[in-house]
Order: sequence, then structure tokens, then C-alpha cells
Amino acid sequence: MTAHTDLIARRNATIGPYSPLFYAEPLHFVSARGVWLTEANGERYLDGYNNVPHVGHANERVVAALCAQAGTLNIHTRYLNERVIDYSERLLATFAPELDRVLYGNSGSEANELALRISRQLTGSTGVIVSDYSYHGTTIALAELTTGLRTREPLGAHVRSIRIPDLDADPRPEADVLSETLADIDAAIVSLHDAGYGVAASLFDPLFSTEGMPRVPSGLLAGIADRVRAAGGLVIADEVQSGFGRTGTHMWGHEYAGMRPDIVTLGKPMGNGHPMSGVVTSEAVLDAFGSRNEFFNTFAGNPVSAAVGEAVLLEMEEHDLMARARSLGETARARFDAFVEQYDVVRSAKSAGMFLGLDFAIDGVPDPVAARRVVEEMKRRNVLISRIGRDESVLKVRPPLAFGPDELPILLDALAASLDAATVPPGH
Ligand SMILES: Cc1ncc(COP(=O)(O)O)c(C=O)c1O
Repeated sequence: MTAHTDLIARRNATIGPYSPLFYAEPLHFVSARGVWLTEANGERYLDGYNNVPHVGHANERVVAALCAQAGTLNIHTRYLNERVIDYSERLLATFAPELDRVLYGNSGSEANELALRISRQLTGSTGVIVSDYSYHGTTIALAELTTGLRTREPLGAHVRSIRIPDLDADPRPEADVLSETLADIDAAIVSLHDAGYGVAASLFDPLFSTEGMPRVPSGLLAGIADRVRAAGGLVIADEVQSGFGRTGTHMWGHEYAGMRPDIVTLGKPMGNGHPMSGVVTSEAVLDAFGSRNEFFNTFAGNPVSAAVGEAVLLEMEEHDLMARARSLGETARARFDAFVEQYDVVRSAKSAGMFLGLDFAIDGVPDPVAARRVVEEMKRRNVLISRIGRDESVLKVRPPLAFGPDELPILLDALAASLDAATVPPGH
């Protein structure tokens, strides 16, 4: 019996037991504000995990913008609406000049599906290259290229996956690792051409979030992009996790990674929880696609979503959340580095601004059990985090960007205590 036995039974009897729940004893939240969530029993938890409430749970500006626009007008894109254009201008101003057009969707999956559809039409090819431990969404096309979550659909015959290296776990010189991975890309391209699929696109998350934030050789994504373009494909950056200033130094993960995509897909933090997503590309790509398709998406790009998206950008600007992610990320990283020194089981620290990880391994063998114990210990200390990576051995610390200097020490001290508790040798 847990405190939530009845609710879990009702959940299983309705939405079913297959939708995963975090924690051995799941949490039941009833409200949230800023970076704190409140459980049904009144206990408060610090959010060190959720990236969707980017500017904070129940953010006042976002809620006010949503309510005001919903109470004024909500309509699809087949009528003129200034709010949607205002937002589009503001959003596109955060991109490099050549990425100057946007199409809207309602989820990251929709954005990636559309990016693939555009790529297939423009190239006349169907082949796609992804990483061998990645996730890009729920549609059939995306299930056929999912390598990082269990799916019933086998990998599509038109899909090639490559291993993303982690220099923290690979003792070879960086240049050797880089050339090996680029050779894998060359081989994938040859294989797609030989099989008659050609190359429609590459699809990578610039931070390799699902992969466990491997430390990749510098120039890796730019090298991949060059090869994919030379093979006739389009380069898609999936920024559903890496975008909107998360890295602290760049608004977009592809800029952080030093590569130039043809298409960028956006989601999660874009609407702070309101379902909205985007496909950002160039005028040339949009013209080629738009002129052949009467593309219309009932809910996407509506004025309520635009109001919400605009409020998110304004909050980010007003509170300088990207700079905050940078400075807090640096402080957190220093402490994470100290954990690597302090605990044998912690192999390496990972970070890009306010997306941090700790990789657990013993004698080079990933240790997911230790990582899971730390996640549970953090919960006992009322702090939410999770795990990522092919072995689920990398802690995932990815709080809302509204996370502030007052909260960071709470998270870091809880992590230190959790590491102590979780790494006590058996028998002590
Ligand atoms: C990198 C990445 N791309 C795409 C998606 C799919 O987004 P959505 O769940 O909004 O469809 C996810 C969701 O976890 C993701 O992490």
C-alpha cells in the first residue's frame, strides 16, 4: 500500500499501466509555482528536472497572456492575426538571418514529422541518419527511427544509426574518435545510396540529451552536417530539449554545437506547458515545400499559443534567464567536478549551461543502480531529478530556467547528501 494506491489503481483501469511513472513510490502533485511543486500531502519539492515549465511553473505573465488572449480571440491561421505575426518576428529574430521562416505545430513529434516530410519532398530521397540511442517523437515515421526507447516498430529499412562517442569514456585521442564517427557517417551515406533510399536528412539533438550528454569531439556535428549536405540531404537540428537558452551561452543548441542546420525543430519549453512547437527554416526551403502543399494545421499557430510563446520570450529577456543559466551552470559544474574527484563511482560530469549530468561507472562499466539510488535519495530530500543515457547511468539535472541562486545550493547540498547515502558500501 502506498499513499496513492487508489489513484494508481484508477489510473491503471483507465489510461493503463504502461505509461511510465517516476519513482518506486510515485509522486502526486496538486500544484506548482516557480520551481517548487506541492504534493497531495502538502510537501514541497524542488524541481531539478522539468524543462517544459521553462520560465517557471504557473508563471504569472504566461498565465495572464494565455487567459487574456483566450478571452479575446482564439482562431486558426486562415484569418489575419497580428499577434501570431508579432510572435513569429520575435521568435525568428533569435535565429541566424538565414533561418527566417517558421511553421507551427502542437508537439515536438509534429515538428519532427513535418521536418522529415519537408526533407523527403525537397530531396526526393527517404534515407535518414540518426544516433543509435535517440528519441524524436511518437508518429509512425519517428517510431521507425527511434533507437532510444522501446517501440514495436522495427528500425525502418531507410534508417541508419550511428554511435555518438563520449570522450569521457573513450581514452583514444579526440581526432581519432572524430574521424571514426565521421567514417561511420560516410558508411551510412554509402549504404543508403546503395540501397536506393538516398539521403533525405540527418536528425540529431545537438546536446545528445537522450544519449546521456556524451562529450563529443569538437566539430562533430559540423562534420556530420557537411557530409549529409554533400550527399544531398537536409540537416535537421532537433532543439526540443536543447533550445531556448538552455545552454547558457547560446539561444540554440546548434549554435552551441557550432553547426548550421537547414531546419530546426522546437517544442517543450516553447509554450511553458501550453502545447506548441515550431519548424524553423529558410525562405528557400519554405518556398519549395509551401508551393507544393496546402499545409494547414488547425490548432497550430493560433493567437493563444502566440501570446503564450511571446510571454515566454519576454520573461526570458526580462530576467536574463540565459545568462542566469550560464552563471548557475558554471557554479553547478564546479561542484559536479568535485563529485567526480570525491566518489569513485562517478566517472564524469556533463553539462551545457543548466543541463547537467553525472555519469556513474565502476571500472569502466556503467552503474545504473547507483544512479537510480541517487535519484531516489534526492526524492527523499524533496528534489526532483532523473536519469538518461543508454544504460540509464547518467543523472539528468535539467531544471526550469527560472531556477535561481537561492535554489541551486539546495539542489547541490541534497545531491552531496544523496551521493553519500547512495554510495555507502554494503554492510555499513
Ligand atoms: C529530443 C526530443 N525530440 C522530440 C520529442 C518529442 O516531443 P513531444 O513529446 O512534444 O512530441 C522529445 C520528447 O521527449 C524529445 O526529447
